[in-house]
Amino acid sequence: MSPIFNAAEMAASYASKSPQEILKLAFEHFGDDLWISFSGAEDVVLLDMAWKINKQVKVFTLDTGRLHPETYRFLEKVREHYGIAIEVMSPDAEKLQELVREKGLFSFYKDGHGECCGIRKIEPLKRKLSTVSAWATGQRRDQSPGTRSHVNVIEVDSAFSTPDKPLYKFNPLAQMSSEEVWAYIRMLELPYNSLHERGFISIGCEPCTRPVLPNQHEREGRWWWEEETQKECGLHAGNVIAKS
Ligand code: ADX
Ligand code: SF4
Repeated sequence: MSPIFNAAEMAASYASKSPQEILKLAFEHFGDDLWISFSGAEDVVLLDMAWKINKQVKVFTLDTGRLHPETYRFLEKVREHYGIAIEVMSPDAEKLQELVREKGLFSFYKDGHGECCGIRKIEPLKRKLSTVSAWATGQRRDQSPGTRSHVNVIEVDSAFSTPDKPLYKFNPLAQMSSEEVWAYIRMLELPYNSLHERGFISIGCEPCTRPVLPNQHEREGRWWWEEETQKECGLHAGNVIAKS
């Protein structure tokens, strides 16, 4: 890894570059220390682009224990299709048991998704990110007018950096539209999550994701009982910090 990486400078000079050029830069600087965060949805585009540049690409996913069966099958399909290892991060068993014992399995409908996401997603993510220098996500600006319209292609992760270690975050698909992502998936005949055939666009955990109606924004299918500006689970908390 090159010792100097100025994220703000790089973000400015790569603002209009292609996702592949952004990924190449990420691999050049961080090599094996760059991890792709794969959700098991349309961010397969990111994984495909990364794999075509570097067949040894490192990939992790957060298994919340509440994903759809279709998503688990898709994760397996992707693993076999690309011949890659996918590191599956699981929640801390004790913390999870305590939450479920005290509040049951659906507490998020009553008191918001923060606590459950904190245990099932954020703690495992934090654990993973504490061991890496950089990560890449499939976030796009068009995914959420409320929280993602300003996502940078490259940034210092304001949520997961520590005082002694900056964490770099790449969002190579930031400028792609949903239409472009799907044109890529169809044209290259990439595998996709079969939930997309049933009206799902954005896909998260089963109890917190539903299909959307024609012309509804994709984000309306996530945590639909909550405010639009709260619809970040903490994975991308920097988006909310940056806006407040
Ligand atoms: S979320 O924060 O609302 O759940 P979203 O589903 O839009 O995120 O996905 C945006 C990006 O976050 C994905 O492209 C992926 O990089 C990362 N991500 C989301 N969910 C997961 C997951 N379960 N495991 C790993 N990465 C994820
Ligand atoms: Fe829990 Fe829902 Fe968050 Fe999944 S999305 S971790 S089920 S609150």
